[in-house]
Amino acid sequence: MITYKLKPKNSAEVSIYLLDEDQTLKFQHENCTQVNEVISSKQFTGTLYDIFPIVNKGTLILLVGLGKREELTLTIVRIAAKKALESKYLKGKKDIALYPHSQKEECILAIIEGIKIGTYRWKKYLTESSANSIDAMSIQMITPQKKSFEIAEDICAGVNATRDLVNDNADFVTSTHFEKEIRAIAKGQKNISLEILNEKELNAKGLNLHLAVNQGSNKQPKLIIAKYTGNPKDKKLLAIVGKGITFDSGGLNLKPTSHIETMREDMAGAGAVLGVLKNLIKLKIKKNVVCVLGIAENAIGSGSYKPGDVIKSYSGKTVEICNTDAEGRLVLADAISYVIKNYKPEKLVDIATLTGACVVALGYDYTALISTSEQMAKDILSSADKTDDRAWRLPIYPELKSAIKSKIADIKNIGLPKGAAGTLTAAEFLRQFTGETLWAHLDIAGTSFVESSERMYFNYGATGSSVRLLTHFIQNYA
Ligand code: BES
Ligand code: ZN
Ligand code: ZN
Repeated sequence: MITYKLKPKNSAEVSIYLLDEDQTLKFQHENCTQVNEVISSKQFTGTLYDIFPIVNKGTLILLVGLGKREELTLTIVRIAAKKALESKYLKGKKDIALYPHSQKEECILAIIEGIKIGTYRWKKYLTESSANSIDAMSIQMITPQKKSFEIAEDICAGVNATRDLVNDNADFVTSTHFEKEIRAIAKGQKNISLEILNEKELNAKGLNLHLAVNQGSNKQPKLIIAKYTGNPKDKKLLAIVGKGITFDSGGLNLKPTSHIETMREDMAGAGAVLGVLKNLIKLKIKKNVVCVLGIAENAIGSGSYKPGDVIKSYSGKTVEICNTDAEGRLVLADAISYVIKNYKPEKLVDIATLTGACVVALGYDYTALISTSEQMAKDILSSADKTDDRAWRLPIYPELKSAIKSKIADIKNIGLPKGAAGTLTAAEFLRQFTGETLWAHLDIAGTSFVESSERMYFNYGATGSSVRLLTHFIQNYA
């Protein structure tokens, strides 16, 4: 638990001081001469991520370096807070007082995220865990009490809820599980209405692309729609639509070894939508948002949809299936046209682990943003910047239409030879279902999951990509 105090209430077991190099030079500890000696003898100079422990009358003081002041970023602050709290010196400690390097609100928020998001670990299936758990710690943040800090914690809880879903087994986080979770979130909330389309309804209404993707699976396909009305007087409505492939085997175009292992992450878009919905409720955000989760499993079997199939979408456009592994755009296309037709949102953002090409283009730290609306692109980039939930814009332009032309159907589900500009051609496919609605697309294929041991302030596994970004975007621009 984090509490906010002007002065530490009881003498904490551990006091953590975040200090950049300039601050270190001037730092004087009132009741610990050892700290002052360590600094004057240059044993601790505030070097980036240096952690220096000092025992002081039975309590522990940790000096944590933030490096050169002119190079200090809020990302560094998050990483430093994470490293401090995960350090071996805190093992078994419960009462922590944390002294921020700055009382600026953005710095306190970054420290909270470093703690809440940075120390998150997926431990459900570990029978023994050696890592420290911040759940068992009481952290006193030495700062004037402010409401906005509690809000930051709530937002982190939304991020971590998404991570729990993405990290868990694909056969656990099924469409049924998603439905159960969404129903639990909506329970007792008068301003949320649910519409859930199962196989029967999807069939009756003609969401055939969605159905095709799920055809080889023994699980139900579901289109889950939760409409949150935070401001009944406001006519404006935003739709957020998440790709929820609970496992992407590739289908008959089966994925090879080293591409398939983490494909339970292919519902990270839908997972993010669920995290955002939690935040809307927790923060009582006064905006209207229709949250859409397109859930299916891209499995393999004799019933699977097949390369060469032509399928009529909900919108009426026919689609040639050239590769069953390009399934996300199919589920999204039907979800997008369904929500536009039946809910008439002013703006729509879709979010998806859509293309491997996105990882090639931007790597793991930046989500790809593609939008036909200058204003939405500008707003989303600003939210990305403010939340450190990073995004970078890629282009979309009329000439891309030819990349998805088919000889036997209106369009096809793959783009140019050799996968050239795969992220752009996938976005162009989606654009064809957005009509006049203001639209932005987030490709989180690179950012949703950490496969190396850690990245920035994320431990191995799901990151909750775009939950902070979208929450901020809705609060400020929707
Ligand atoms: N789910 C994948 C994209 C992906 C790749 C997500 C890596 C996360 C990490 C998507 O369904 C896919 O397989 N896309 C294909 C499209 C191709 C067949 C046109 C791809 O990117 O290779
Ligand atoms: Zn795929
Ligand atoms: Zn996929």
